[in-house]
Amino acid sequence: MEVIFTSNYEKICEEAARIILREWKKKKNLALGLATGATPLGVYKELIELYQKKEIDFSGVQTFGLDEYLGLEEDHPQSFAHYMKENFLKHINIKKENIFRLDGKPSDIDTNCQEYEDKIKSCGGIDVQILGIGRNGHIGFNEPGSSLSSRTRVKTLAEETVKDNACFFENEREVPRFCLTIGIGTVMEAKMIILLASGGNKKDAVRQCVEGPVTASVPASVLQFHPQAKIIVDEDAGALLSRKGYYEWVFQNKERVKDYLK
Ligand code: GLP
Repeated sequence: MEVIFTSNYEKICEEAARIILREWKKKKNLALGLATGATPLGVYKELIELYQKKEIDFSGVQTFGLDEYLGLEEDHPQSFAHYMKENFLKHINIKKENIFRLDGKPSDIDTNCQEYEDKIKSCGGIDVQILGIGRNGHIGFNEPGSSLSSRTRVKTLAEETVKDNACFFENEREVPRFCLTIGIGTVMEAKMIILLASGGNKKDAVRQCVEGPVTASVPASVLQFHPQAKIIVDEDAGALLSRKGYYEWVFQNKERVKDYLK
């Protein structure tokens, strides 16, 4: 796990976009896993700017949505399909046929979930998965208690998630209680994971994710098992991390490793 401390939210987004750009340079048909929520918005903004400056080209890129509310049409203003289109996909030159997402109104849930898993596999797996983190430690919509080897499936939202997401709807009653999410096992198969966390309301979840025991009660803690997980935080979200000095030193000095071989 690599913990990257930044001074503020903008820097989190710049760092995440920088990593994605670097990975895209290595693989032009990058498979990018996309998260919703307020946190990744700045990353999408950065990527759009990089595209406008012609530093990145999305014509070969494939994207996979992380989750979706069950029962919402694609064009519902709160569907994650709508969020991704408005905040990212319609601003870049991605090919329509390279955009993959979970259907909020599937004809058959199990079949659709299996087909989504198959699609990810047939594209060679997700290269870079962007993640936010819920205050209760969830990733995607994998709520506490989710199996750490779960696959894409239907989930029931936790009470605190319904409350946290109520601000996007008219009122709490409007928030769907069920969702579809790629599983924790599915997330863990991504070659690289970038988890972003900003603000003091995420500090406890970040502490448990990075320095707590690995437990299904804090789904994000499973990232401790991932060989390429980058946790990018600002001062507030990382406030409870006990090894802050060490993480900062590692990040600032990682290029020096090569000097030891000279
Ligand atoms: C939702 C999404 C998650 C996201 C989380 C945190 O529950 N399903 O993918 O990480 O919210 O969102 P935010 O970044 O707005 O705090």
